[in-house]
Amino acid sequence: MKMQQAPGKGFRDGFTTNLGVIAATLGSAVGLGNIWKFPYLTGVNGGAAFIIIYLLCTLLVGLPVMITELIIGRRARADAITSLQKLEPRQPWYLVGVSGVIAAFLILAFYSEVACWVFAYIFKAASGVLASTDPEVTSQAFANMITNPVQSLVWQWIVLVFISVIIIAGVSKGIEAMTKRLVPCLFLLLLLVCARSLTLPGAAEGLGFLFKPDFSKVTWATVLTAMGLSFFKLSVGMGTMITYGSYFRDDQNIPGTAARVMLADVAVSILAGLAIFPAVFAFGFEPGAGPKLLFITIPAVFSSMPLGGVFMVIFFILTAIAATGAMLSLMEVPVAFISGRLGWSRTTATLVTLAGLVLLGSTAALSNSTMADFKLLGMTMFDLLDYSTSNVLLPLGGLFLCLFIGWRWGLENIRRTASNEGSLNNDAVIGAFYAVVKFVTPLLVFVVLLNGLGIIKL
Ligand code: TRP
Repeated sequence: MKMQQAPGKGFRDGFTTNLGVIAATLGSAVGLGNIWKFPYLTGVNGGAAFIIIYLLCTLLVGLPVMITELIIGRRARADAITSLQKLEPRQPWYLVGVSGVIAAFLILAFYSEVACWVFAYIFKAASGVLASTDPEVTSQAFANMITNPVQSLVWQWIVLVFISVIIIAGVSKGIEAMTKRLVPCLFLLLLLVCARSLTLPGAAEGLGFLFKPDFSKVTWATVLTAMGLSFFKLSVGMGTMITYGSYFRDDQNIPGTAARVMLADVAVSILAGLAIFPAVFAFGFEPGAGPKLLFITIPAVFSSMPLGGVFMVIFFILTAIAATGAMLSLMEVPVAFISGRLGWSRTTATLVTLAGLVLLGSTAALSNSTMADFKLLGMTMFDLLDYSTSNVLLPLGGLFLCLFIGWRWGLENIRRTASNEGSLNNDAVIGAFYAVVKFVTPLLVFVVLLNGLGIIKL
């Protein structure tokens, strides 16, 4: 019996199962954002009050853009640029795709540097060099790593090559196969660390920090933060989801999948908060965010607990897994474009992308050493790559995608694609999506963009 058709000419790889689609898409959404952004922002912005606001913002901003991108991708079945060209051949909408491919490079250039610190920390934690309860000592260990140009570069290359190998293996045999195994592992490891953290004496204070609803801390700036976060979290605004949508099967329920991914992503963020903050408070450390939390506070916190070394290794493995799924989705954007458009093989396309990333990424890798004094617009390259994408390119891309689907493409096309040509009975969901994406989302994203550009200050 012939089991499988050999992939001949015209064959387009894609995700093969429902579980694979969820794993890959959730793998993209879950990333460093869940671990060093979301829990801390929740803690300082009113706990449960922030979680409610984030859910509302996601419903009105992140999720509609995600559904928009998935619809565009599956309808056109092509990369981010070609998809928009296929749907509107003689109009400049494809420039959104161009901005997306550029954004993928820029994000990966700094994201891979942070990710490589996480990978390096798995080994450092295992070797015992991070075993100190004194933040001064762990801070020194972190500084030693990031100010060392050779370590920064070599670890980044290792991570980029690792991602490239998976990408070369293909969409179903690489991305899908990998995330299908890694995402369940991530949940399991996260639950393990949660159990440890929550059973420490004094864990309750951390729970209070995370969950105690305090609406007096909620300001317009909080709402803006939540809207921006929903963008970065769900990997939207730059064509990642257009590219992944183009790999969805015809019978995949797009709004349903997007909603599930969004909820699972929030669950991971909350679990990450439960893994981190009860332990931080139990040992009397200061809560924080970003690199300081991840690479300085967390090693000291884990070193304070029984069996801390083991849990520290587990923690950095799960963070590395989270970053891997996100990086795969970022790298797939230029690779899909180059191989789909220029007709180059997937391997060549990946190697060219890798070469570009090694070059651009080195400016981020060296931002704490050789290039520390090199500043553009008052920022190091690392900060500039982060700022320009999160605050400008992603909202800009999201805004135009909403305008495209809401005002240009129209309800009939949306309905056909989002109902799988009428086979799903989801008219009400589509109607609500259409109203939001046409009127509400663009307005809100526009405010996020103005804020990102410094034009308004809340
Ligand atoms: N969502 C990921 C995180 O939370 C980051 C990420 C992956 C991303 N792909 C993206 C952000 C595309 C913006 C656009 O860490």
